[in-house]
Amino acid sequence: MAQKKAEPKKQSAAKETKAPAKKKTASAAKKTTAKKTAAAVEKTAPVVEEAAPAVEKTAPVVEEVASVVEEAVPAVEETAAAVEKVAAVVEETAAVEEESAPVVEETPAPAEQAPSTPRRSVAFIGSECHPFVKTGGLGDVMYALPRELVKLNCDVRVILPRYACIPQKYQEKMVYRGEFYMDLGETGRNFYVGIMEYISDGVVYDFIDNQEFFSSGKPYTNLVDDIPKYCFFSKAALAALNYMNWIPDVIHCHDWQAGLVPVYLRTLFQDSPVGRARSIITIHNLRFQGIYNIPTIKYWSGLPDYVFNMGALKQNWEDANMFKGGLAYADRITTVSGTYAQEIQTAEYGEALEDHLRYHSGKLRGIVNGIDYDMWNPATDPALAENYWLGNVLDHKMANKLALQAELGLVQDESKFVVGLISRLTNQKGLDLVNAIIPHIMDGNTQVVVLGTGDKQYEDTFRYYEGAYSGMFSACIQYDESRAHRIYAGADALLVPSRFEPCGLTQLNAMHYGTLPIVRETGGLKDTVEPYNEFTGDGNGFTFDRYDAGLLLDAINRAKTVYFTNRYHWDEVVQRDMAKDVSWENSAKQYKNLYLELTQW
Ligand code: ADP
Ligand code: GLC
Repeated sequence: MAQKKAEPKKQSAAKETKAPAKKKTASAAKKTTAKKTAAAVEKTAPVVEEAAPAVEKTAPVVEEVASVVEEAVPAVEETAAAVEKVAAVVEETAAVEEESAPVVEETPAPAEQAPSTPRRSVAFIGSECHPFVKTGGLGDVMYALPRELVKLNCDVRVILPRYACIPQKYQEKMVYRGEFYMDLGETGRNFYVGIMEYISDGVVYDFIDNQEFFSSGKPYTNLVDDIPKYCFFSKAALAALNYMNWIPDVIHCHDWQAGLVPVYLRTLFQDSPVGRARSIITIHNLRFQGIYNIPTIKYWSGLPDYVFNMGALKQNWEDANMFKGGLAYADRITTVSGTYAQEIQTAEYGEALEDHLRYHSGKLRGIVNGIDYDMWNPATDPALAENYWLGNVLDHKMANKLALQAELGLVQDESKFVVGLISRLTNQKGLDLVNAIIPHIMDGNTQVVVLGTGDKQYEDTFRYYEGAYSGMFSACIQYDESRAHRIYAGADALLVPSRFEPCGLTQLNAMHYGTLPIVRETGGLKDTVEPYNEFTGDGNGFTFDRYDAGLLLDAINRAKTVYFTNRYHWDEVVQRDMAKDVSWENSAKQYKNLYLELTQW
């Protein structure tokens, strides 16, 4: 289990949310929502009672045979209590806020939509999205995939938390879309939910506003805060769809932070308008699951007892797992490469959910990520010293190497072999292997550039190497988008020796910039980088299989051998990689087909 446990957050620490002053101008009717709750609940009670059998049916089958009998009985009994809670969310279905027509930013939806594919509406729900907030590849996918889906005749809304760390320039462009109050779990309180909207390139972004949950300077802090935060976010996202009266055909959730969405959808929201949507959950990284003790997750989520069984949220004796629940309740599960879809069904990569995933394998599939060709385009990239494209890469990429060396204080020499590494500095990324072999690759002809932040041990080791190999090793312990672009362009090769890698985007960016990847054959790295074949000259990069420092060193040495002794072949691979289709086009079509498969009418 990756997450640390901690004591439940004390109830007393929770303050009543105050709507920001400017929002107080909203109609008086809205402010009385909390008071109206009781009446609304009463009015909807009969409808909700009728829904009881439906809710019962949606409890996922318990896969662990032994526990079936034990778990099933309480599940049935507790259904009635759960149904009562459905009533609590029904009142959130208010009319669309008429007075707040959103401002359209930049270009509207492209006119060249493919009419051959039927129109579908999709709500993306996730915890980060470029350019508002990004800590890794999830942010890239949440940005790029909706834009591609718009081209495939999809109507897409992306629902995100309105973190205080979203840059001011985007905060200023958001338009107030409405607000309401929502109860949450056993807190006994009604929480403010504001909706701030921003539209860009045909994609509507709705930010869930609540200063109590989203005021930290970064999206993720610690589980004590993150568990309540994402219980609130998941419930508020569904309530906001009801509130806006925008009911999508499909709700597409991402990672554990949105893990409760499919669970809410089939329990508390089953009989509200949004309950008719189908759901998909995408696993970007199974390492993080949102695990905490059952009482705490019950307290914050308000989910009925019967979802805390071994087939859904319950894990071990005392823990609840938010991702596990989402996987059980979603109509489909996807992950970001075919190989990772297989791997996570094994003990080595399953992060203790392999049995659960094997049980649900019928609804699991892998769809490999792509990259956004507008954001990642060496021909137009404003961050680069010199732009280049397939036709002139061999003449113009070098200028970027020299500029990078100058920028980072490395010896400026075009004959050096420059190896880049752009990564979160965590246990996932194979950095132990890198650290172990650095002294063996620093031969006077090789330079290494690291860009990343994360665990102190890795940061310190890379800083040490920078001191030890002055002018040849650069440790940029920072997060810097534009420097990342310059490294992709200026390096000759990019290291991605991950312990596990659901998809990986850095190898795709690198290939698109004519920089050869050196990767471990795991997850999406295996699916996207074909190993170089020294006899035929085929392939995209250099690969190794077992998680072993010696094998990484061997792969780097093979790359160096081709670079220094067979530049003609190296250059062929550079051009092949730039020509390789790593766009979203094909993968977005697969997602669209999945949406259509789920919504056949
Ligand atoms: P993960 O999501 O596991 O972090 P990915 O390879 O899918 O890995 O995505 C990483 C993304 O974050 C890429 O777009 C990469 O360029 C970017 N990135 C990672 N570290 C940094 C950094 N320190 N500065 C700038 N961009 C970074
Ligand atoms: C995760 C994975 C990474 C993947 C990204 C986007 O953070 O670690 O492999 O590319 O999500 O799906």
